[in-house]
Amino acid sequence: MTTTGALDRTRPPAAGHRRPPGFISRWRARRAERDAWAAHHVFAQGITAEFREACTALRLCQYVSVAAGITVRTPRVGAVHGGPPITLTVELMAGQEPVDFTSKDNGPRLAHSLGGHGLRVEPLAGRWVRLTVLNHDPLRDGFGLPSLAVASGADPVILGRTEDGIALGHALTDAGHLAAQGQNGSGKTVLCYGLLSQLAAAPDVLVAGSDITGLLLGRPWDDTAHRPHQVTGTHDLEAHAVLLEDLVAEMDRRLATIPPRRDKIEPTPETPTVLVVLEEFPGLLRAADGLPKPKRGEGIPLGDRIRTAVLRLLSEGRKAAFRVLMLAQRFEATAVGGGYARDQFALRLSFRVPADSLEMLHGTDARPFGQEHANAAPGVAYLSGLGRDCERIRVPYLGDYGEYVDRIQAHGRRAA
Ligand SMILES: Nc1ncnc2c1ncn2[C@@H]1O[C@H](COP(=O)(O)OP(=O)(O)OP(=O)(O)O)[C@@H](O)[C@H]1O
Ligand SMILES: [Mg+2]
Repeated sequence: MTTTGALDRTRPPAAGHRRPPGFISRWRARRAERDAWAAHHVFAQGITAEFREACTALRLCQYVSVAAGITVRTPRVGAVHGGPPITLTVELMAGQEPVDFTSKDNGPRLAHSLGGHGLRVEPLAGRWVRLTVLNHDPLRDGFGLPSLAVASGADPVILGRTEDGIALGHALTDAGHLAAQGQNGSGKTVLCYGLLSQLAAAPDVLVAGSDITGLLLGRPWDDTAHRPHQVTGTHDLEAHAVLLEDLVAEMDRRLATIPPRRDKIEPTPETPTVLVVLEEFPGLLRAADGLPKPKRGEGIPLGDRIRTAVLRLLSEGRKAAFRVLMLAQRFEATAVGGGYARDQFALRLSFRVPADSLEMLHGTDARPFGQEHANAAPGVAYLSGLGRDCERIRVPYLGDYGEYVDRIQAHGRRAA
């Protein structure tokens, strides 16, 4: 076998030749390292230039008047890491905040200019932040929900994961009522599978409500303390009205017995927070309104009884430790018992819905997201309320329906 002298490390160096053994491979390694640094330097310069241009275009810059005219100052870029994902450390300029880079207007444009889908910003020391260019929609990948149950309604349940990858918790006792809207198959019920399975064991929570589909409530809750407070199906619509009126009566009783020097009921196992789940509420109203109306003076139409009870729970329930969780394909005022009822929801979630429905529930802030969200994947929702701007989240997925049933059966609080 013949080899070239340069590659043959087994051959001793020729006499008079001062090259030590392995010299070529070490030289090659050093050159490769130098080339890699040079390539990285060119890459970092390119990214920095793109970043600066984008900052100028988006006015994330300062205009400084100098003798030669106006010059543009952009945020200083420190280290650039090639990733993936690409990250840049950036020094904020006077008056800038980290959110300026990820705001609704700037975030996507800046990310697209850097060849990514989105941006994440994390504060570092002083005025420095780290910008991460996300290669794909961070909400594209689903996430599972481990089999966990909270010990109290005051403990946060996992509601979803934000675009920053942060798990968003929500304590049932925290604030007002919850509304979730979304087209067929967009993920409303799956959201509830996650929420209810986490709450089922808490001794100070009672999961009550009405479910005409009979999948979310009802059978999965058999033998639990919650089941007697749930009505399912459409065969006996009056039972839904009776249940809701009973809940209103309990609310009135609690309001009448609020201890002195208190302005709300503190939930305990004896007076638990009652979560009133209203699955597909417009469907219940439609079915009730479709029944023959009683003659004048012979009673109140069923639909009106249901509307009145829900409206009272929504407007007065919070102080009496009642929370309403209403699901609807669209939160049109007429479909959910009126605009007043709709306004009572403190936390609002929209799965895939047409742009006008998104704006209807979240206000004009949500307008820029309308078009894109109209095609959102199941489980991706916009959330607003409780001091949070409108933001996109991914709701956890606990698995198939059997898994939900198993978890409710495993964790569901039993009657004492
Ligand atoms: N968070 C999620 N992650 C992954 N997949 C999901 C998620 N949520 C929903 N899905 C998928 O979408 C399907 C439909 O979801 P779901 O039953 O919750 O829709 P829905 O909004 O309640 O629809 P409908 O109005 O018909 O009741 C689920 O069976 C599941 O396959
Ligand atoms: Mg559903």
